Amino acid sequence: MKDLVQARKKEMSYHEQFYRDTALFEPGTWLSKPVEVVLDMLSRLDLNNEVRVLDLGCGVGRNSIPIAQKIQKTGGSVVSMDLLPIAIDKLRTYAEKYKVNESIHTKVADAEFYPITPGHFDYIIACSCLEHVSGIAAFRSVIQRMINGTRNEGIHCILMSTEVMEYQIETGEETEGEIELNLKTEEAVSTLRELYTDWEILIQRAVPQTIHEKKYEKEIEFRSTWLTFAARNARKRF
Ligand SMILES: C[S@@+](CC[C@H](N)C(=O)[O-])C[C@H]1O[C@@H](n2cnc3c(N)ncnc32)[C@H](O)[C@@H]1O
Repeated sequence: MKDLVQARKKEMSYHEQFYRDTALFEPGTWLSKPVEVVLDMLSRLDLNNEVRVLDLGCGVGRNSIPIAQKIQKTGGSVVSMDLLPIAIDKLRTYAEKYKVNESIHTKVADAEFYPITPGHFDYIIACSCLEHVSGIAAFRSVIQRMINGTRNEGIHCILMSTEVMEYQIETGEETEGEIELNLKTEEAVSTLRELYTDWEILIQRAVPQTIHEKKYEKEIEFRSTWLTFAARNARKRF
């Protein structure tokens, strides 16, 4: 429990500071552009219809805003939710700046407990969000809610870090990363395959990722696996 509280505190303070210091689409930062695969998966939907999108852990709108720009003219909308009030405040300001204010509905909430209206959404994104729930049971239950909340032919796009390790460059010491849910890649993949058993799997990809950072004045590397999983609800419902 202490580890969970500690990891959550660290996660929140990192993002609060980062969103304060970094503008949406600022070059040279991870906010510089939307995630390509998130927009690719959107383009698989029929954008001539009114498309309903849910962005879990939306941050300041790196994906929500470009999506809203693409779907608003046909009446589509995005529900963007995040744990941090500052993320949602900034997103509201950016939504106004990029003229998508009316197509984005926001909510400050924890994805772990966020209710999703059954059969409502065409596209649900969780980009760096599901590794921040309290455990594997919570992970399963959020995904189950996402599945229940999706219309026929709807798509999910999940991106997350697994097997997060912290490597001290000076000493060569490697310790487990401080993150709420540090799943083994294999466990994450097998859980996803099980939960999405009657969906069409569109992407399943796991690639190593290294991020160089300074922590307490020491050079460190965050080493993890970057998992991309996308699936389409191909079930026929009567
Ligand atoms: C790395 S950022 C990614 C933000 C956004 N998805 C993007 O791609 O730009 C992770 C975001 O998830 C949010 N977050 C972390 N845990 C969460 C939770 N349990 N429920 C909702 N949001 C959460 C953080 O506040 C942060 O804004």
